[in-house]
Amino acid sequence: MAKEPVRVLVTGAAGQIGYALVPMIARGVMLGADQPVILHMLDIPPAAEALNGVKMELVDAAFPLLKGVVATTDVVEACTGVNIAVMVGGFPRKEGMERKDVMSKNVSIYKSQASALEKHAAANCKVLVVANPANTNALILKEFAPSIPEKNITCLTRLDHNRALGQISERLNVQVSDVKNVIIWGNHSSTQYPDVNHASVKTPAGEKPVRELVADDEWLNGEFITTVQQRGAAIIKARKFSSALSAASSACDHIRDWVLGTPEGTWVSMGVYSDGSYNVPTGLIYSFPVTCKNGEWSIVQGLSIDELSRKKLDLTAQELSEEKALAYSCLS
Ligand code: NAD
Ligand code: LMR
Repeated sequence: MAKEPVRVLVTGAAGQIGYALVPMIARGVMLGADQPVILHMLDIPPAAEALNGVKMELVDAAFPLLKGVVATTDVVEACTGVNIAVMVGGFPRKEGMERKDVMSKNVSIYKSQASALEKHAAANCKVLVVANPANTNALILKEFAPSIPEKNITCLTRLDHNRALGQISERLNVQVSDVKNVIIWGNHSSTQYPDVNHASVKTPAGEKPVRELVADDEWLNGEFITTVQQRGAAIIKARKFSSALSAASSACDHIRDWVLGTPEGTWVSMGVYSDGSYNVPTGLIYSFPVTCKNGEWSIVQGLSIDELSRKKLDLTAQELSEEKALAYSCLS
């Protein structure tokens, strides 16, 4: 019997990431090749015409899994009945804008959209925040949508996770699919900590630790980390726009693994509400290693944290605490 369609909201759908993401969802990349979807696309009135153009293209592409498209600038219509919400809408930083100006614009968007989701989304809606500052926007959304379970509100650090896999695969000249269990700790910002201490590579002789195969701690503790931390800025420098296809693809990876589960023995990185694991303060949305089963994520427990890692975990937590304080000062 054919499955019931799942309603997926994409905010900021007329933007760059939206344009890359909606065809992936309509093709089954996010929820599987047998899962029909109805796309809800939200943008703001100045982008209404462009949004309608995206809707026309979705119709023209004749995706067999796509059972309907709602394209709207009305947040209530956009949020009504959605099972999954991918929050991409927001303002990127422009020349001359201070960090606080961007924070102020975006957190107030996330405060108001929190209420719309809380009132109108389907029960148990899963939320992924992509728009920057992703962790803090997700935290604001959580705090202003108290009836949405905190486990249902997450932010995207899977792009950073995938970037780390990509760097290791290039360095070792191995398939990226043979590298696993890197970790992104903390903020989706340049203080994030890409950690390979528990990562491994599938080889003909079995699984080997990344540290053993790379055999260059100076690179792993230096250039590897800064390359992953600065990759977003490097893409902006090269393309003059921020990452879009990789962000869209990683958003699909995030939701797919959350809904359908992570493979046995493999974890991924997700920004989730801290429960104090690894002595990360509660009250922050922080990226942890997680496994997913039956539609629920769990933080991987019991990993050893060395002294260098401890400092890096604390540094990125500190930045998130400061962002949280700044966000609240913008809302007051
Ligand atoms: P973009 O400017 O191309 O698109 C953003 C869209 O959001 C625009 O169409 C805009 O009209 C819309 N928008 C603005 N306010 C809105 C609102 N209140 N409701 C609905 N839509 C609204 O930007 P983009 O390149 O698509 O990036 C989107 C966001 O994702 C940015 O904040 C960017 O920094 C962030 N990003 C995050 C990651 C990550 O890994 N977490 C990666 C790349 C980009
Ligand atoms: C990315 O990681 O590519 C983006 O978050 C970069 C940015 O600063 O918008």
